[in-house]
Amino acid sequence: MYIRGKLVIRDLRHGLYDVRERRKLHGLSWYRDVRAAMPRAQDALRADYDDYVANVSWSGMAVSLPTAALLRCLCEHLRPRTILDLGSGFSSAVLRQYAQGAGNATVISVDDDAAWLGRTREYLERRGLPADRLFTWPDFRAEPLQLFDFVFHDLGSVDTRRATLAAALDYVAPGGAAILDDLHKHRIESVARPIASAAGFKLVWVRELTLDEYGRFATWAQRAPGGSSPVTGRANPG
Ligand SMILES: C[S@@+](CC[C@H](N)C(=O)[O-])C[C@H]1O[C@@H](n2cnc3c(N)ncnc32)[C@H](O)[C@@H]1O
Repeated sequence: MYIRGKLVIRDLRHGLYDVRERRKLHGLSWYRDVRAAMPRAQDALRADYDDYVANVSWSGMAVSLPTAALLRCLCEHLRPRTILDLGSGFSSAVLRQYAQGAGNATVISVDDDAAWLGRTREYLERRGLPADRLFTWPDFRAEPLQLFDFVFHDLGSVDTRRATLAAALDYVAPGGAAILDDLHKHRIESVARPIASAAGFKLVWVRELTLDEYGRFATWAQRAPGGSSPVTGRANPG
């Protein structure tokens, strides 16, 4: 009863915030373009998504269809050349499909669970998509720091998500963007907001585009062209 009450209050708070943010975003032409492209992107992904959640994973664990569609629309809009996919699965296929079509883009997919990474490899192979550049999180962390135009953060459990958020944002190039999944969860949102703002990111509230049947949604974090790294403290070039 107490937990249900807390969830209702949380949903009300998000809904009210949504009304205010939506009013601002609807005035921006780039946002209207991305929003207009969403239904077609969902339709294009739906058959593969239904197959994925029926035969590989399940809908409460895989990225939601609306967030997968947003990944596709943002890639089409921003045209990133370097993409980091943290938390492998259907997102790995969506991002690799974009990269394959773009011709000049690469995707690195990372997971904290080596067995799950293996499942992702098999799935990508079955789809006929590139199944290279797959790393476990420790192996990826041991690599020299690279910066990416676009990062999707959907790695592991809530605790893992909290523990890796600063590092995930550290991989975003100046002027680049990240989609942080599951910010409907207070335990993730409460660390994401202070870390992102300290690192010079602006959070764009894309709840209306990503809300799914479980009440999950994602948030867009846009990195300013300058600023400094939250982890290394290194100044970013402007
Ligand atoms: C929210 S899931 C990531 C979903 C992924 N981005 C996708 O698009 O399908 C977070 C973590 O759960 C694990 N995982 C994903 N699907 C799973 C499943 N069906 N069963 C168990 N673990 C899973 C992976 O280790 C992944 O890093």
